Amino acid sequence: MKFFIDTANLDEIKEMADLGIVDGVTTNPSIIAREGKDLKETLIKICNMVDGPISGEVLAMDAETMVKEGTEIASWHKNMVVKIPMTQEGIKAVGELSKKGIKTNVTTIYDAAQALIAAKAGATYVSPFVGRSDDVLMSGLAMLNQISRIFRIYNIKTEIIAASMRTPAYVIGAAEAGSDIATIPYDCMKKMFWHPMTDVSIDGFMIDWKNAMGDKKIL
Ligand code: G3P
Repeated sequence: MKFFIDTANLDEIKEMADLGIVDGVTTNPSIIAREGKDLKETLIKICNMVDGPISGEVLAMDAETMVKEGTEIASWHKNMVVKIPMTQEGIKAVGELSKKGIKTNVTTIYDAAQALIAAKAGATYVSPFVGRSDDVLMSGLAMLNQISRIFRIYNIKTEIIAASMRTPAYVIGAAEAGSDIATIPYDCMKKMFWHPMTDVSIDGFMIDWKNAMGDKKIL
């Protein structure tokens, strides 16, 4: 399973990318706005930090302008993926962008019908929002499982990015659902390193060593 990081904060990206666990980066207008920096400059910096798909989202709501914005975003770096919202206009733009060979990530997906439409239009990726589905009392993971099953039945090449991941349990659920990718916020990624029993076990090893061996070291 590939891990993308869902942030535009360069320190967060660097910290995780340096560990070799980041395969790509996703952003959206809220994430970019949170950093308060220029969109193009930020995305190019990210492209120079992570050698993988980097999603930047259009702002327009009509297909014609989405295609223009998407073409511009794609020209910034070979790894740029154009993120398009799941609307009828968005789907029109995805069709046109994919004809030009531009990669797209259809975002704000909340059910399998939307994912099927996006795949049919030629989307490279679909991003089902798992946590936000749970927020409105739908089962995000049930939706993700359904999309994954359907894509497998029809051998659909569009890759699934499990998005809106809130805790490590969401990432495990996305992996069990067979998602190709999970895009994980920094805080959630940090939590994936940790387990209370890991800390207890390491402390136990160190205490046993010190009791028997004192200050003896390897180096
Ligand atoms: O990639 C989608 C994501 O940015 C939405 O996540 O946590 O704001 O629901 P969240």
